Amino acid sequence: MTTPLISISHANLRHNVATLASRVAPSEVMMAVKTNAYGHGLVEVCQTALEAGATSFAVLEIAAAIDLRNAGISAPLFAWLFGDDEIPAGIDHQVDLGISRREQLSIAGAYGKPTNPAIVHLKIDTGLTRNGATVNQWPSLCEEAARLEKIGNIRVVGVWTHLADATPQDDEDALELFRAAVDIARQAGLTPSILHAGASSAGLRSDASRLDAVRFGIAAYGVSPFDSPTANDLGLRPVMTVSAPVTHVTADHALVGIGFGHGILTGDNDERFVRIGSDTYRVTDIGVDSMRIVPFENSPWPVLLGARAIIFGDGGPSAEQLGAWCGTIGDEVVTSVSPHIRRTHN
Ligand SMILES: Cc1ncc(COP(=O)(O)O)c(C=O)c1O
Repeated sequence: MTTPLISISHANLRHNVATLASRVAPSEVMMAVKTNAYGHGLVEVCQTALEAGATSFAVLEIAAAIDLRNAGISAPLFAWLFGDDEIPAGIDHQVDLGISRREQLSIAGAYGKPTNPAIVHLKIDTGLTRNGATVNQWPSLCEEAARLEKIGNIRVVGVWTHLADATPQDDEDALELFRAAVDIARQAGLTPSILHAGASSAGLRSDASRLDAVRFGIAAYGVSPFDSPTANDLGLRPVMTVSAPVTHVTADHALVGIGFGHGILTGDNDERFVRIGSDTYRVTDIGVDSMRIVPFENSPWPVLLGARAIIFGDGGPSAEQLGAWCGTIGDEVVTSVSPHIRRTHN
């Protein structure tokens, strides 16, 4: 293979989802698959994750949820970022709607019918201020939802929030607000059966945040949400591996055929390496379609033309490691890789 390649390991994905599911049981895994499953391939990831123990998906957009429905995925799909005009399509495709505002509720209540009600998860903002009803707006949102539920046009199955993951104390304070909001929803006559708040970081470190479901994203792809512990420490395995061939070899350096034009992050760091077989080579420069590598003191030289270099993933540096070299996080490393690179699912 002479081109860059993204290899998606479904064995590792299966392992991660099963590991996380057993870690948080009896809470369920609502796996976050936003932005094309963090660049890993939406439909393929959902199919494997379902087999491994995920029971629902957090998809972000209604359009992505519809793609999943069209691919035959019948599990609950939760969307929370959409225009008001997309709500009817969400209802038609039985997409669970994350609702923060009265206007959204009115549209859902007007379009939903007792034969096909809007499935609603009401969102309370507990400090992240991304969306969600404020504490002041919450009681009236719940009352209106209860009224529409009585008519049969909506069904409130969930109450949710998104923890900011700043510090464990911030998350605990947010959870206290959340519990108070759930009490208010129940007093209004709602009977939500799915309470969810945490993503990878809270889900891994705090029992209290797990509630009925954890929306695991990055951890399921084998990337740690923490600086420490690493994914390996957490028993998680990399799902995405990016590799490229050596395309040119000289007496003192070689070129590997992948660069920032393929979505590989540039970052100036003396420790940055790629791995070829079991040997490491320092990356000294990244261009649009190639990167320059040189041997470390102990690396065998010359490297073979056509040998494959692991840029990150299984057998190479981790996505978190590459993120740290580039001053960012592993999430950015995996989601930045160009969708135009050849991809194999194995
Ligand atoms: C609402 C929501 N839930 C879950 C996630 C998954 O987060 P993580 O990748 O940290 O697990 C995200 C990601 O930003 C999110 O916005």
